[in-house]
Amino acid sequence: MPAKNYAHDLDAMLAAITPATRIVFAANPNNPTGTVATRETLARFVNAVPENVLIALDEAYVEFLDNPLDLVPELRSGRKPNLLLMRTFSKIYGLAGLRLGFGIGHPGLIAELEKTRQPFNINAVAQAGALAALDDTAHVTKTRRNNARGLRFFARAFRKLGLKFVPSSANFVLVHVGDGPRVFDEMQKLGVIVRLMASYQLPEWVRISVGTTKENKRCLEALKSVLGK
Ligand SMILES: Cc1ncc(COP(=O)(O)O)c(C=O)c1O
Repeated sequence: MPAKNYAHDLDAMLAAITPATRIVFAANPNNPTGTVATRETLARFVNAVPENVLIALDEAYVEFLDNPLDLVPELRSGRKPNLLLMRTFSKIYGLAGLRLGFGIGHPGLIAELEKTRQPFNINAVAQAGALAALDDTAHVTKTRRNNARGLRFFARAFRKLGLKFVPSSANFVLVHVGDGPRVFDEMQKLGVIVRLMASYQLPEWVRISVGTTKENKRCLEALKSVLGK
């Protein structure tokens, strides 16, 4: 399904569902664009997908949102047997090395997944770390705030430089730099790694991850120097 304004077109995805459709998959917020569906659009989508079609909703970046649509009550009530929310410890929790995520779904759906889950598939240390992370709400709040500050910093800077960018709700921002591979190479020589977007058919763009205030400034200086701005 082609994107619309760099975002998932959930209404078009809905309209494309046929009796042969088994699963619809969407990341919200999305990677690599950072776009997010409005609460209303997402609710409409989740409610309209037929019950025999699995909605796999990748919420890897959901913790970066200030006011996300919480679909867990829908699951708890039993009203959404075909919804699977997928989360990860790799993003706001900063624990990508644990290789741990989780899914939230109706007990009936989870029981089906259990049939194919490998035994001993995650290790006890990762589980202990993840449980501690879930309790560390102060870290999540701090990181969400730092990220929002970083996104504002880059947005202001890109506007000032006249660079097109996609307003982001995740912890990165997609910015139009003209020759993505050149900017990627030149920035790397300055010690700053951005993400090439050629594999997403966006060769004129790079994706910049939000860091600390100091890292963001260093990244911007490197970008400016590479672009001769
Ligand atoms: C949308 C989305 N989902 C999932 C993941 C994967 O996270 P994990 O480290 O848990 O495999 C990523 C990581 O880049 C992502 O961007």
